[in-house]
Amino acid sequence: RVERVPLIAGNWKMNLDHLQAIAHVQKLAWSLKDARHDYGSVEVAVFPPFTDLRSVQTLLAADKLALRLGAQDVSPQPVGARTGDVAAAFLAKLEVRYVIVGHSERRHGHGEDDGVVAAKAAAAVAAGMVPVICVGETADDLEAHGSAAIPHAQLEAALGGLPPEAEYVIAYEPVWAIGSGSPAAPEQAQEVASLLRARIGELRGEPEATATRVLYGGSVTSQNVAGFLKQPDIDGALVGGASIDADEFSRIVQFRK
Ligand code: G3P
Repeated sequence: RVERVPLIAGNWKMNLDHLQAIAHVQKLAWSLKDARHDYGSVEVAVFPPFTDLRSVQTLLAADKLALRLGAQDVSPQPVGARTGDVAAAFLAKLEVRYVIVGHSERRHGHGEDDGVVAAKAAAAVAAGMVPVICVGETADDLEAHGSAAIPHAQLEAALGGLPPEAEYVIAYEPVWAIGSGSPAAPEQAQEVASLLRARIGELRGEPEATATRVLYGGSVTSQNVAGFLKQPDIDGALVGGASIDADEFSRIVQFRK
């Protein structure tokens, strides 16, 4: 097994305003410190709504917490006349390290196609951040094409605009598993993750394929996370609902393979 530093990412989605965020991060930090768990061996990132980023950044810096900051989206365009967009440069100035791009709730909820996702990933990289590129099939895709075809195509499109040596993370999130309480079977997620990793190797070379972290997302909880992380090609989790409860998310971070 190639050792890659596991990444446990909490995607708060549209939950926790900037005041609730402060209480949440403090509770999460204390529960991890209390656990005296060497979660240093695991990278932990929280992805608040845009309105909370400054509050959380300030808290992380003040408390010297080892939590990383992530954003849930980014504009594909540079700073300028784009109402409602958030520029990658602005996120980078808030010490955002990771940026989710291509989440199914934006692909299907906001009509973001592969071209937009690729441009967002490139914008994040250009600003010095690490895109977390979400790929995953819908239930219809699964029935028509199986589990790997759509994530495969989405991966190829998203990587197309990235410069060599760009750092990124892939998150395999079967759409039918998101928010359903019915996660994919770890073995099925492993099969897709290994196919995605192999494709990265074909497209961009083996070193990048070996180094790139592939996460699983879709109804991850403290009860099932270990089953995913013991898979050889799964290097972490992108957690939604279970990340907005600090104690549950802390239990997920303290997974044991
Ligand atoms: O980005 C992670 C999210 O889509 C997974 O959601 O609630 O199924 O963990 P959830």
